Amino acid sequence: MLDNIEIIKKESMNLADKIYIFDTTLRDGEQTPGVALTVDEKIQIAQKLNNLGVDKIEVGFPASSKGEIKSAKKIGELDLDSTLVGLSRSLKSDVDAVLDADLEYIHTFIGTSPLHRDYKLKMSKSEIISKATETIEYAKDHGLTVEFSAEDATRTERNFLFDVFSQAVSSGVDFLDIPDTVGILTPIMTRELITDIKDNFNVPISVHFHNDFGLATANTLTAIECGANQAHVTVNGLGERTGNCSLEELVMTLKASYGIDLGLDTTRLYSLSTLVGRLTGVKMPVNKPIVGDNAFAHESGIHVHGILNNSATYEPMSPEMVGHSRRIVLGKHTGANALKSKLKEYHIDLDEGQFYKVFNEIKALGDSGKCVTDDDLIAIAITELGSAKETPIVLKGLSISMGANVSPTATVKLEIDGVEKEKANTGVGPIDAAIGAVRELVQDTMHIELEEYNLEAITGGTDALAEVFVITSDADGNKSTGRSTNQDIVMASIMAVLDSMNKLLLIKRA
Ligand code: KIV
Ligand code: ZN
Repeated sequence: MLDNIEIIKKESMNLADKIYIFDTTLRDGEQTPGVALTVDEKIQIAQKLNNLGVDKIEVGFPASSKGEIKSAKKIGELDLDSTLVGLSRSLKSDVDAVLDADLEYIHTFIGTSPLHRDYKLKMSKSEIISKATETIEYAKDHGLTVEFSAEDATRTERNFLFDVFSQAVSSGVDFLDIPDTVGILTPIMTRELITDIKDNFNVPISVHFHNDFGLATANTLTAIECGANQAHVTVNGLGERTGNCSLEELVMTLKASYGIDLGLDTTRLYSLSTLVGRLTGVKMPVNKPIVGDNAFAHESGIHVHGILNNSATYEPMSPEMVGHSRRIVLGKHTGANALKSKLKEYHIDLDEGQFYKVFNEIKALGDSGKCVTDDDLIAIAITELGSAKETPIVLKGLSISMGANVSPTATVKLEIDGVEKEKANTGVGPIDAAIGAVRELVQDTMHIELEEYNLEAITGGTDALAEVFVITSDADGNKSTGRSTNQDIVMASIMAVLDSMNKLLLIKRA
């Protein structure tokens, strides 16, 4: 947190005394195209949201299906600290469904913009106000806490929006919510809108911002800076189309940039994100803030050097704050410090000559566009240590026969630990036949799986040099890379596989 934040907070922010986090992962988040959660999955997520400490959990839309009522009831049975909320259109029957689900808090909405009035609801302004207010009054009469959303509020004429909100307040609403239904706001527009609403209404104000232009978190933060009392959020920013304001981004910006602690156990954020990613099938991009794989990953030599001395040099918060972990990644930008720290992590001691050979090999792998894993590093370092001119498996002969209407056959001769063996094998093509022969020849020594195979022509023409890069794994799950360059693609393939197998054998025997 910066020194001048306290001044900014005092002079240009109008923070509410209490900021509520209203999570709608189980409702708007479930409206993410392709996502449908079972009752059991909703229970798992609700439990974790509760443990994190969110104030409210919108558990679903009870009027939409029997399953929604069932899941809301089951979540209710957990007796969580978070308040459970049910969504409802401005219809008495929807309120009844929320009551059937045993919920005590309703989030009722109706479209207010000209587009929603004319093309969706086909209702006049006065009909909209009547529907909204009679639903709020009906819900209040049944003892519910009521939050009212003017759907598409940000494209609604300001006068009409204020009319609807005034009538909602007169009907006893507890929270007024402002949905930016298609995410058109920008921070400066948000500042103007929220300030105007705060100046004119004396009930708690909530915001529900969508992310169509990637501004949902920035806009929600701006709304909070201008006095909004509540933010609607979803885990991983899930939701309709491009989603909603992301829970983890909002909470961590408030905490790490402003020092505003909402009382949430943020160390649970990463595991919650992982659970939601697994159950919804929506995987996070590696560069997703806070929870993405790269959120605390460092490759460049300059950055890693800084991180190793003091992680704050290139991290705005520690990974521990959100339950994530730091990763030092090897590649073309790797510096000597990063490599030394990695080797230390794996207790591998190299002399200076060996160290620079490994260093150069890692850079070369990175330069060729390959991602260098820790397994690659171990294999390269062990090969260098063993000074591993030692190659337990040596190719002694290879011949291929193929023709029209004849299955390609490869005859491979290997020397394995000094003993020569030969095998003929057929396959769908010459490479498949040859690699199959190798696997059979080595089966008494090791079991290998070909995890990845990449073939590239690195020069042009029919005599082009072919470069083959493979990743193989053994029965214990060890993985290793292999690489070879040859004018013959079968030869390049076999040599790459043998290269990788020899490294695996050296790891096993080290
Ligand atoms: O985005 C939206 O307008 C909504 C409403 C149901 C509040 O999700
Ligand atoms: Zn929404």
